[in-house]
Amino acid sequence: MNRAIKFKLKNGKVVTIRRIRGTDADAMLKFLNKCSHDYETSKYTSFYPGKPTPSKESCVALYDNPNNFFVGAWDGDNIIGESTITKVSPNNPKYRGLTGITGSIILSKYTSQGLGGKLKTIVEKWARENGVHKLEAEVFHKNVRSLNNLLKNGYEIIGIKHDHAFINNEWVHEYILEKILD
Ligand SMILES: CC(C)(COP(=O)(O)OP(=O)(O)OC[C@H]1O[C@@H](n2cnc3c(N)ncnc32)[C@H](O)[C@@H]1OP(=O)(O)O)[C@@H](O)C(=O)NCCC(=O)NCCS
Repeated sequence: MNRAIKFKLKNGKVVTIRRIRGTDADAMLKFLNKCSHDYETSKYTSFYPGKPTPSKESCVALYDNPNNFFVGAWDGDNIIGESTITKVSPNNPKYRGLTGITGSIILSKYTSQGLGGKLKTIVEKWARENGVHKLEAEVFHKNVRSLNNLLKNGYEIIGIKHDHAFINNEWVHEYILEKILD
């Protein structure tokens, strides 16, 4: 994705979608901090209030690494959602970056508006154009919205990690999902 595009949410609001680069590190750090404090959105993710934020330098390196793709949705100057793909071991001749680990997070005010599906389509396009053979995602079994979102986009559940986290006083399993792109 080279250019910014406009995307209309189901509620009529228009957001801008474009690739996140190292120069966007400050905006991303602000967004990640908001995610940690957004209970609804962070409930079934690894975010929690007070989660240490990464250093700006590590963010710049991550976003400018050509083996990663970070795409963000912006409401004005603020990032309100993002999807990522990271190639697994691109320099290892056995793995060759053929698998891409994906993930998405959108602030609760902007969820269930079609944005997650749109970001998934963009991430998948990048994966196909950049030699990724398989997409992989991990989702807590209670995260119905994310599961629906992935299943609807052609991912299959291929495994389960039992009692993988303890959330709201109960054990939560984690599903492993994948989608072969060929
Ligand atoms: C998971 C997430 C990225 C999905 O994005 P989204 O913008 O909310 O989802 P979309 O509006 O594109 O919906 C895609 C599909 O997901 C499902 N879905 C959306 N909202 C849902 C809800 N409230 N309950 C159940 N399924 C839902 C539907 O099948 C929907 O398709 P449809 O609208 O054509 O029926 C987003 O909700 C999010 O960031 N959630 C919090 C963080 C998180 O859980 N991230 C994933 C961690 S693995």
